[in-house]
Amino acid sequence: MDSAPPRTLYGRRRGKPLRVGRREVLERRLPELQIFPADYQNGALDPRSLFRPGIRGVWLEVGFGAGEHLAAMAQAHPDVGFIGCEPFINGVARLLGAIDQQGLDNIRIVMDDAGLLLDCLAAGSIDRAFLLFPDPWPKRRHNKRRFVEPKNIAAMARILADGADWRVATDHMDYCRWILAHLGAARQFQWLARRPGDWRLRPDDWPATRYEEKGIEAGRPPAFLSFRRQNRNQPVN
Ligand SMILES: C[S@@+](CC[C@H](N)C(=O)[O-])C[C@H]1O[C@@H](n2cnc3c(N)ncnc32)[C@H](O)[C@@H]1O
Repeated sequence: MDSAPPRTLYGRRRGKPLRVGRREVLERRLPELQIFPADYQNGALDPRSLFRPGIRGVWLEVGFGAGEHLAAMAQAHPDVGFIGCEPFINGVARLLGAIDQQGLDNIRIVMDDAGLLLDCLAAGSIDRAFLLFPDPWPKRRHNKRRFVEPKNIAAMARILADGADWRVATDHMDYCRWILAHLGAARQFQWLARRPGDWRLRPDDWPATRYEEKGIEAGRPPAFLSFRRQNRNQPVN
């Protein structure tokens, strides 16, 4: 029997009441694009089965907010399947608006805690992952709510394919140090930065998000951290 503690979602699921147009697109598009982790047993979901045959990989975004990065990536990479997790209904409705307007057919949505999806995905089934400006939970007593913590790191290491990159951004320097300490200590991941420009500057193929813009306006320069899932068969040093 699984004795792991149950997952807990922190943060809001709802904001302001949805405008009529957003509610309409949510009701029309969400049923066809939504995935329910409860429909799958642990480790049983092959994410390629959610997309048309012939896609070259599946990329995952955790906490996509309003979905601007996810929609831009899906448009730039029509041959990749994307799964986005976001429990906040207003953000999901915004993403669905973009999907509808841009005619994107390569995005599936989990409107819930990403942890539930991580548990049901098959090992090595995700080819790239994004965690952009996750809630920093700055109060020390709330630090344990941070997404980057040992259980989620182990889950990400399980689902990412060998050589897959996990891109993480934050504008919160304490969380940045925390991420580097936790992922730096995880033998499954290697931080790819060689020089400061590698993490201070957003790579050209990394679309900006609302939270990045808010942080810059508030004088908080972001860090763009890329980690590579190490090969499972190689000895690690
Ligand atoms: C600070 S916002 C950043 C949003 C977006 N990535 C951006 O850069 O604009 C953090 C987002 O993570 C979402 N979130 C928090 N916990 C989550 C979880 N366990 N699973 C999925 N999303 C989560 C929140 O609902 C929120 O939209």
